[in-house]
Amino acid sequence: MSSIAVVPGSFDPVTLGHLDVIRRAAAIFDQVHVLVVHNPGKTAMLPISERMNLLQKSIDEDSTMPKNIVVASWSVGLLVDYCTEVGAGVLVKGIRSQIDVAYETPMVLMNRSLAKVETIFLLPDPAHAHVSSSLVRQVAALGGDVSDYVPSAVARYLDTTRPA
Ligand code: PNS
Repeated sequence: MSSIAVVPGSFDPVTLGHLDVIRRAAAIFDQVHVLVVHNPGKTAMLPISERMNLLQKSIDEDSTMPKNIVVASWSVGLLVDYCTEVGAGVLVKGIRSQIDVAYETPMVLMNRSLAKVETIFLLPDPAHAHVSSSLVRQVAALGGDVSDYVPSAVARYLDTTRPA
Protein backbone atom coordinates (compact mmCIF):
# COMPACT_ATOMS: atom_id res chain seq x y z
CA MET A 1 0.00 0.00 0.00
CA SER A 2 1.39 3.43 -0.88
CA SER A 3 2.08 5.91 1.90
CA ILE A 4 0.30 9.24 1.57
CA ALA A 5 1.00 12.26 3.77
CA VAL A 6 -0.72 15.63 3.97
CA VAL A 7 1.22 18.85 4.61
CA PRO A 8 -1.50 21.30 5.71
CA GLY A 9 -1.18 25.02 6.22
CA SER A 10 -2.42 28.49 5.39
CA PHE A 11 0.47 29.10 2.95
CA ASP A 12 -0.39 32.81 2.92
CA PRO A 13 2.03 32.99 1.14
CA VAL A 14 4.23 29.89 0.77
CA THR A 15 7.77 30.52 2.10
CA LEU A 16 11.16 28.87 1.51
CA GLY A 17 10.69 27.21 4.92
CA HIS A 18 7.47 25.59 3.70
CA LEU A 19 9.16 24.38 0.50
CA ASP A 20 11.98 22.87 2.56
CA VAL A 21 9.50 20.86 4.66
CA ILE A 22 7.49 19.81 1.57
CA ARG A 23 10.71 18.60 -0.13
CA ARG A 24 11.70 16.58 2.95
CA ALA A 25 8.21 15.05 3.26
CA ALA A 26 8.18 14.10 -0.42
CA ALA A 27 11.47 12.23 0.06
CA ILE A 28 9.87 10.08 2.80
CA PHE A 29 6.34 9.37 1.51
CA ASP A 30 5.10 7.92 -1.80
CA GLN A 31 2.73 10.84 -2.29
CA VAL A 32 2.44 14.21 -0.55
CA HIS A 33 -0.67 16.38 -0.64
CA VAL A 34 0.10 20.02 0.12
CA LEU A 35 -3.22 21.22 1.44
CA VAL A 36 -4.22 24.88 1.62
CA VAL A 37 -6.59 25.20 4.56
CA HIS A 38 -8.52 28.25 5.69
CA ASN A 39 -7.42 29.14 9.23
CA PRO A 40 -10.30 31.05 10.89
CA GLY A 41 -7.85 32.38 13.50
CA LYS A 42 -5.96 34.40 10.89
CA THR A 43 -6.85 37.31 8.61
CA ALA A 44 -5.88 36.18 5.13
CA MET A 45 -3.83 38.28 2.69
CA LEU A 46 -4.41 36.09 -0.38
CA PRO A 47 -7.47 34.17 -1.56
CA ILE A 48 -7.06 30.39 -1.38
CA SER A 49 -6.96 30.10 -5.20
CA GLU A 50 -3.95 32.47 -5.37
CA ARG A 51 -2.15 30.62 -2.56
CA MET A 52 -2.62 27.35 -4.50
CA ASN A 53 -1.46 28.99 -7.71
CA LEU A 54 1.71 30.33 -6.05
CA LEU A 55 2.38 26.97 -4.37
CA GLN A 56 2.04 25.09 -7.65
CA LYS A 57 4.28 27.58 -9.51
CA SER A 58 6.89 27.48 -6.74
CA ILE A 59 6.97 23.67 -6.78
CA ASP A 60 7.08 23.53 -10.60
CA GLU A 61 9.93 26.06 -10.77
CA ASP A 62 12.05 24.23 -8.14
CA SER A 63 14.20 21.63 -9.91
CA THR A 64 15.07 19.95 -6.57
CA MET A 65 11.43 19.21 -5.82
CA PRO A 66 10.32 15.56 -6.17
CA LYS A 67 7.42 14.87 -8.58
CA ASN A 68 5.13 13.10 -6.08
CA ILE A 69 3.46 16.29 -4.84
CA VAL A 70 -0.18 17.31 -5.27
CA VAL A 71 -1.49 20.78 -4.37
CA ALA A 72 -5.09 20.86 -3.10
CA SER A 73 -7.36 22.89 -0.83
CA TRP A 74 -9.90 22.04 1.85
CA SER A 75 -12.51 24.41 3.17
CA VAL A 76 -15.38 22.17 4.26
CA GLY A 77 -15.11 20.01 7.36
CA LEU A 78 -12.20 18.71 9.35
CA LEU A 79 -8.66 18.32 8.13
CA VAL A 80 -8.85 14.64 9.04
CA ASP A 81 -11.88 14.28 6.73
CA TYR A 82 -9.58 15.20 3.83
CA CYS A 83 -7.04 12.63 5.08
CA THR A 84 -9.73 9.95 5.15
CA GLU A 85 -10.95 10.95 1.67
CA VAL A 86 -7.49 10.55 0.08
CA GLY A 87 -6.29 7.65 2.28
CA ALA A 88 -3.59 9.63 4.10
CA GLY A 89 -2.60 8.34 7.54
CA VAL A 90 -0.07 11.02 8.37
CA LEU A 91 0.08 14.79 8.68
CA VAL A 92 3.45 16.52 8.36
CA LYS A 93 4.15 19.79 10.13
CA GLY A 94 7.25 21.95 10.01
CA ILE A 95 8.60 22.95 13.42
CA ARG A 96 10.86 25.97 13.89
CA SER A 97 10.92 26.21 17.69
CA GLN A 98 9.41 25.02 20.96
CA ILE A 99 6.64 27.59 20.41
CA ASP A 100 5.56 25.65 17.30
CA VAL A 101 5.62 22.39 19.28
CA ALA A 102 3.39 23.90 21.97
CA TYR A 103 0.98 25.28 19.32
CA GLU A 104 0.80 22.02 17.38
CA THR A 105 0.57 19.51 20.25
CA PRO A 106 -3.18 19.85 21.03
CA MET A 107 -3.97 19.55 17.29
CA VAL A 108 -1.80 16.44 17.00
CA LEU A 109 -3.69 14.79 19.86
CA MET A 110 -7.09 15.94 18.56
CA ASN A 111 -6.44 14.63 15.03
CA ARG A 112 -5.25 11.29 16.44
CA SER A 113 -8.31 11.11 18.68
CA LEU A 114 -10.73 12.05 15.87
CA ALA A 115 -9.49 9.75 13.14
CA LYS A 116 -6.29 7.93 14.20
CA VAL A 117 -4.33 10.28 11.93
CA GLU A 118 -0.75 10.62 13.22
CA THR A 119 1.43 13.73 12.87
CA ILE A 120 5.15 13.87 12.31
CA PHE A 121 7.24 16.98 12.85
CA LEU A 122 10.04 17.85 10.46
CA LEU A 123 12.66 20.48 11.21
CA PRO A 124 13.46 22.74 8.26
CA ASP A 125 16.96 23.99 7.53
CA PRO A 126 17.85 26.39 10.41
CA ALA A 127 18.44 29.05 7.74
CA HIS A 128 14.63 29.33 7.61
CA ALA A 129 14.04 29.30 11.40
CA HIS A 130 12.98 32.98 11.49
CA VAL A 131 10.79 32.81 8.39
CA SER A 132 7.01 32.77 8.71
CA SER A 133 4.20 33.78 6.37
CA SER A 134 3.00 36.36 8.88
CA LEU A 135 6.41 38.10 9.04
CA VAL A 136 6.69 37.94 5.23
CA ARG A 137 3.27 39.63 4.97
CA GLN A 138 4.36 42.29 7.45
CA VAL A 139 7.75 42.98 5.80
CA ALA A 140 6.14 43.11 2.33
CA ALA A 141 3.32 45.42 3.52
CA LEU A 142 5.92 47.83 4.96
CA GLY A 143 7.86 47.92 1.69
CA GLY A 144 10.70 45.53 2.65
CA ASP A 145 12.44 43.03 0.40
CA VAL A 146 11.20 39.47 1.04
CA SER A 147 13.06 37.75 -1.80
CA ASP A 148 15.36 35.87 0.65
CA TYR A 149 12.36 34.28 2.35
CA VAL A 150 9.95 33.29 -0.41
CA PRO A 151 10.16 31.41 -3.72
CA SER A 152 10.70 33.68 -6.72
CA ALA A 153 7.11 33.15 -7.92
CA VAL A 154 5.90 34.71 -4.66
CA ALA A 155 8.47 37.53 -4.77
CA ARG A 156 7.36 38.35 -8.34
CA TYR A 157 3.70 38.27 -7.32
CA LEU A 158 4.27 40.56 -4.31
CA ASP A 159 6.29 42.96 -6.50
CA THR A 160 3.57 43.22 -9.13
CA THR A 161 0.77 43.67 -6.59
CA ARG A 162 2.68 46.21 -4.44
CA PRO A 163 0.74 49.50 -4.19
CA ALA A 164 2.48 52.29 -6.15
O1 PNS B 1 -0.22 27.56 8.43
P1 PNS B 1 -1.12 27.51 9.65
O2 PNS B 1 -2.09 28.67 9.66
O3 PNS B 1 -0.35 27.41 10.93
O4 PNS B 1 -1.97 26.17 9.48
C1 PNS B 1 -2.89 25.82 10.48
C2 PNS B 1 -3.80 24.67 10.02
C3 PNS B 1 -4.54 25.05 8.77
C4 PNS B 1 -2.94 23.45 9.74
C5 PNS B 1 -4.75 24.43 11.20
O5 PNS B 1 -5.52 25.58 11.39
C6 PNS B 1 -5.64 23.22 11.00
O6 PNS B 1 -5.19 22.11 11.21
N1 PNS B 1 -6.89 23.43 10.56
C7 PNS B 1 -7.82 22.35 10.35
C8 PNS B 1 -9.08 22.50 11.18
C9 PNS B 1 -9.42 21.23 11.94
O7 PNS B 1 -9.56 20.16 11.38
N2 PNS B 1 -9.53 21.37 13.29
C10 PNS B 1 -9.89 20.31 14.19
C11 PNS B 1 -8.79 19.41 14.65
S1 PNS B 1 -7.30 20.15 15.27
